[in-house]
Amino acid sequence: MISVDNLSLKFGKRTLFDEVSLKFNPGNCYGVIGANGAGKSTFLKILSGEMDSTSGSVNITPGQRMAVLSQNHFAFDEIEVLKTVLMGHTTLYSIMEEKDAIYMKEDFTEEDGLKASQLEADFAEMDGWNSESAAASLLSGLGITEDLHNLPMKDLAGNQKVRVLLAQALFGNPDILILDEPTNDLDSETIDWLENFLLDFKNIVIVVSHDRHFLDAVSTHIVDIDFGKIKIYSGNYTFWYESSQLALKQRSDSNKKAEDKKKELQAFIDRFSANVAKSKQATARKKMIEKLNIDDIEPSMRKYPGILFKPEREAGDQIFMTENFELKADGVTYFTDVNLMVDKGDKIAFVSKTKQAVNKFFQVIMDEIPSTKGSMKWGVTINKAYLPNDNSDYFKSNLSLIEWLRQFSGNQEEAYVRTFLGRMLFTGEESLKKCEVLSGGEKVRCMISKMMLQNPNLLVMDEPTNHLDLESITAFNNAIVDFTGTVMMSSYDYAFVQSSANRIVEFTPNGTIDRRMPYEAYLESEEVKALREKLYGKSK
Ligand SMILES: Nc1ncnc2c1ncn2[C@@H]1O[C@H](COP(=O)(O)OP(=O)(O)O)[C@@H](O)[C@H]1O
Ligand SMILES: [Mg+2]
Repeated sequence: MISVDNLSLKFGKRTLFDEVSLKFNPGNCYGVIGANGAGKSTFLKILSGEMDSTSGSVNITPGQRMAVLSQNHFAFDEIEVLKTVLMGHTTLYSIMEEKDAIYMKEDFTEEDGLKASQLEADFAEMDGWNSESAAASLLSGLGITEDLHNLPMKDLAGNQKVRVLLAQALFGNPDILILDEPTNDLDSETIDWLENFLLDFKNIVIVVSHDRHFLDAVSTHIVDIDFGKIKIYSGNYTFWYESSQLALKQRSDSNKKAEDKKKELQAFIDRFSANVAKSKQATARKKMIEKLNIDDIEPSMRKYPGILFKPEREAGDQIFMTENFELKADGVTYFTDVNLMVDKGDKIAFVSKTKQAVNKFFQVIMDEIPSTKGSMKWGVTINKAYLPNDNSDYFKSNLSLIEWLRQFSGNQEEAYVRTFLGRMLFTGEESLKKCEVLSGGEKVRCMISKMMLQNPNLLVMDEPTNHLDLESITAFNNAIVDFTGTVMMSSYDYAFVQSSANRIVEFTPNGTIDRRMPYEAYLESEEVKALREKLYGKSK
């Protein structure tokens, strides 16, 4: 068990959190959420002892071991892959080092002998003799093949390094596992692997994530950091979000009787638990989520951006089409044989295993780069708004946010422009900030303001959830689900795609797959799987 008692943290005058007392219990997985800058990483650093709190204490059951997923991808560059994993178990690793140092000695004294035998005993007790094979099989499970185990970390590709660091944290079954945004640099297969690993993991997990699908799959509790307070709620992210929204709505409804409100909440819990029963969640975790009760629910005090896309006019029947569309460059076939006929109201998610294929496709259809073959045609009634993956060109100026957004507005009144900034939670003084100082997330929020202001009937969005916090992602996701126009998007966010797309288009080096079905069905379809294998596998 790990607990915090009366914990406070201040940076200068700023209080990140104050008088927080919490308990984390074995068997539970805690998903930590909070706006950008709320203090999630700081809280984890205090738990792991990397940083001191201003006051209060962190208490861990004596003898329990904690492991942390390293955020620094370069810290182990000179060290061999297998050794990097072993180093995750710090006590075991230091015994190994000490032991080796003694055996290396030339003048081996009687005292050394005693010490060595003590170390050997400790080593055996920790199952040290099996540690290398355990580390190796963990690595292999993560797709790091044996030929890589003895290479230095620096010889590995970025996505392989992340997996080794993950193996390092998971190695040796720690009692408490701390992960700060583990899914950030992982591909979807590794995320899936990690979900399954955490579901089987019996000890305490504390994990920060912006990935709602991941949070829902693994967490039994939500740790919410907001307004200087940290609170634990039972249930996963969707439960926390939907139940707290429902409670908020109930609070403002003074006509409904308390008894009816209770019934409504209970009905919500019953529906939710029935869904959990169908999920892949491990049984112990499942039971926990099935035990939710009304007392676990509190109205949400969260501020969500107000995202709403309202088409100025409805699109005609011609939306967008391509014929024999292709882009080949630098020896890479990004997409080929694309004969796309977009229907009104389609919400298409574009996917590809080819790096940048979808990103290039969006650049081509937005006239930023030319295609190498074929043609495309936009309907004349289309008013499209674009969220590029790389928005840096838009912000190379020293305009204030109001001046920046005004460039894109027909109505030049400040009050009008401010409404659109306000919806993305830029208010008062904040709207006077210079756009060159904005963080990644703030830039995306500005771009969304610009898109709303345009009243588009079609949206092109390349990785819309990049840099955004959960509040913005949730609001954005809801806006796309409600949008009456047409959407063409790419996203790593499983929940975003699953909830909004009705159609999946996949670019492979040997042709295009186009299916009208939800994302989950697409990923599970045997027919699609076979086709993908054929199209990606075929030699060029
Ligand atoms: N050493 C520090 N000194 C002063 N401020 C800091 C320090 N470390 C982090 N902060 C600030 O504390 C806030 C919380 O940071 P962090 O815990 O990284 O947020 P999160 O992980 O929730 O996005 C941020 O505003 C950050 O700029
Ligand atoms: Mg952080």
